[in-house]
Amino acid sequence: MTLHVRFSSISCFFALSFLVTTLVSLPSRRFDEVESLLAFKNEFTLSCNKSVTNSWTRDAISFDGVLFDKDTGGVTELKLRGACLTGTLDANSSLFRLHQLRHLDLSHNNISSSLPAEFGRLTNLEFLDLHQNRFTGELPSSFSNLTKLQFLDISNNSLQGKVPEWLWRLPSLTATNLSHNSFDGFQGSPLHNSSVLVYLFLRSNAFQGSFPNIPPTVKYLDASNNNFTGEMPLSLCDLRKLLVLELSNNSFSGSVPRCLSESITLMNLRRNNLTNLPDTFSNSSLELLDVGNNQISGKLPRSLEHCKRLEYVDVESNQISDTFPFWLESLPNLEVLVLRSNRFYGPISSPQHPRPFSKLMMINIAGNMFDGSLPPNYFVNLSAAITPRVKHIGSLVDFSGNRFVGQIPESIGLLKSLLALNLSNNGFTGHIPSSLANLTELESLDISRNQISGTIPQELGKLSFLSYINMSHNKLTGQIPQGTQFQKQNEYSFEGNVDLCGFPLRKSC
Ligand SMILES: *[C@@H]1O[C@H](CO)[C@@H](O)[C@H](O)[C@H]1NC(C)=O
Ligand SMILES: *[C@@H]1O[C@H](CO)[C@@H](O)[C@H](O)[C@H]1NC(C)=O
Ligand SMILES: *[C@@H]1O[C@H](CO)[C@@H](O)[C@H](O)[C@H]1NC(C)=O
Ligand SMILES: *[C@@H]1O[C@H](CO)[C@@H](O)[C@H](O)[C@H]1NC(C)=O
Ligand SMILES: *[C@@H]1O[C@H](CO)[C@@H](O)[C@H](O)[C@H]1NC(C)=O
Ligand SMILES: *[C@@H]1O[C@H](CO)[C@@H](O)[C@H](O)[C@H]1NC(C)=O
Ligand SMILES: *[C@@H]1O[C@H](CO)[C@@H](O)[C@H](O)[C@H]1NC(C)=O
Ligand SMILES: *[C@@H]1O[C@H](CO)[C@@H](O)[C@H](O)[C@H]1NC(C)=O
Ligand SMILES: *[C@@H]1O[C@H](CO)[C@@H](O)[C@H](O)[C@H]1NC(C)=O
Ligand SMILES: *[C@@H]1O[C@H](CO)[C@@H](O)[C@H](O)[C@H]1NC(C)=O
Ligand SMILES: *[C@@H]1O[C@H](CO)[C@@H](O)[C@H](O)[C@H]1NC(C)=O
Ligand SMILES: *[C@@H]1O[C@H](CO)[C@@H](O)[C@H](O)[C@H]1NC(C)=O
Repeated sequence: MTLHVRFSSISCFFALSFLVTTLVSLPSRRFDEVESLLAFKNEFTLSCNKSVTNSWTRDAISFDGVLFDKDTGGVTELKLRGACLTGTLDANSSLFRLHQLRHLDLSHNNISSSLPAEFGRLTNLEFLDLHQNRFTGELPSSFSNLTKLQFLDISNNSLQGKVPEWLWRLPSLTATNLSHNSFDGFQGSPLHNSSVLVYLFLRSNAFQGSFPNIPPTVKYLDASNNNFTGEMPLSLCDLRKLLVLELSNNSFSGSVPRCLSESITLMNLRRNNLTNLPDTFSNSSLELLDVGNNQISGKLPRSLEHCKRLEYVDVESNQISDTFPFWLESLPNLEVLVLRSNRFYGPISSPQHPRPFSKLMMINIAGNMFDGSLPPNYFVNLSAAITPRVKHIGSLVDFSGNRFVGQIPESIGLLKSLLALNLSNNGFTGHIPSSLANLTELESLDISRNQISGTIPQELGKLSFLSYINMSHNKLTGQIPQGTQFQKQNEYSFEGNVDLCGFPLRKSC
């Protein structure tokens, strides 16, 4: 989904900004540091044959993954990501003799132990990446010695306890990722004015209770997949530089604060227990808004119209009671609109607004009380937009479970890269448009439970990707097309029609 794409680009930036390119080792090496490296290597067994440490020998020409300081000959960088190190990191490890280390990456190994307090002796560390190992226990307080530390990633381990208060006081720390551990709370109050923290990732831990006061410098905040409860705190409004707010899958209740910063570009509050989305959106930077799966009632806030950069609006599975938001037409970049499973009602096409908005790529309005008919050229605009670019969000048109009547618009045949069409549970009448035969990528077609009559166009038999077909409970007549995809369906896909015949139905023609 779009969300995923954005997060990858953020993490990319996150990593890039710290990427140091040099891997080349230089001739001046301190003898005792080389001995420490070799001893360190021997503390582990290797779970594969191509570890980067293979090149390390006493008289090696190059030490892969190691950077020695040109002047002092000490080890300043150790990049052992995915080096197949299996074993424990003990307090007496030779690692802690490498006092000049500034950059240490032990991510994607198999190290299972607690985090030794001796990390606190590596006071030159600026970059520490321990993610994707099997570290256990709590964060030792000696980490508070790491005053030069800018980047700390300990995600994807089995760490637990409270996030220590000193973390917010580390004077250089700009990025920290604690995601995918078992942290369950915060020691003291995180808020600290001396903080320079920009990236804070707390995803998928065991946090519960009310949300802490985050340092006001934070721009990227991900606290999703926890169990924070209570209202979203007003202190979130103090994050005036916030760009990304990811709080999905918690138990937040009450209203979304009115005062959230206009700097936010991505706001994901999906899967909470929020009951109100205030009508106070202003011309902001908001590009993505997802409040799906909450208990929001009332109307869709008209002020969303001011968020000119909106591309993605998802309010799925709430109790919003409103007419179709034609007024969103004024948003020049809106690509995805998901209104599914609410209480929207009324027509989705009017003389003033005959067709969906021009940039729209995905429209899901299933499970509402929309009614009226769709003009023949309803899908003309959408066709311009549904392109391979949108495939990753599943090119789909889902109008099922509403009260639409009249013909299925012939222009549906223009949505060339459509993968799924669901018009089931409506009151559509007339014939199946033969233009459907042009949807050569269609995989799923559900027009069940309508009032559609006439024969099934034989051309549909040529749709070779069509693996799911449901035309049951209509008023169709004549022979079911002989194409292989039709013959693969079971009889329930065609039952409940007036006078259909041929396989897979038992009635022959
Ligand atoms: C944080 O850690 C998790 C788990 O290792 C990872 O999936 C995610 O990409 C990290 N986030 C960032 C922004 O680096
Ligand atoms: C390493 O290589 C040896 C011999 O080439 C082979 O027997 C062994 O299975 C390999 N071990 C791993 C972990 O791939
Ligand atoms: C970690 O160890 C397990 C077995 O203990 C092995 O299957 C896995 O490949 C190892 N992972 C790495 C990154 O070496
Ligand atoms: C380091 O400590 C571990 C665990 O406490 C111990 O088993 C090991 O023998 C020690 N190694 C050395 C070289 O002292
Ligand atoms: C929601 O969060 C819980 C942990 O609180 C996790 O077990 C679950 O997988 C998450 N659900 C989704 C859909 O991410
Ligand atoms: C979240 O916390 C609430 C209140 O403490 C509790 O009732 C609920 O079971 C928790 N949910 C999960 C998924 O842990
Ligand atoms: C939050 O909503 C979920 C799903 O609607 C529900 O199961 C849960 O009981 C609610 N929790 C609270 C604390 O209201
Ligand atoms: C909204 O803000 C953008 C810049 O963020 C500006 O270019 C645009 O003119 C503003 N629009 C209105 C209607 O104020
Ligand atoms: C979309 O439809 C409107 C009329 O409703 C029309 O003015 C506009 O040009 C169309 N846009 C595209 C891209 O076809
Ligand atoms: C179409 O939508 C209905 C709900 O309106 C749903 O029950 C059905 O499973 C959907 N069909 C497909 C193929 O997803
Ligand atoms: C299918 O598409 C072709 C060309 O793209 C067009 O000429 C034809 O009229 C379309 N057929 C239907 C039934 O819409
Ligand atoms: C087709 O849809 C009907 C009702 O919408 C449903 O009862 C039937 O199980 C569906 N058939 C298949 C094969 O999914």
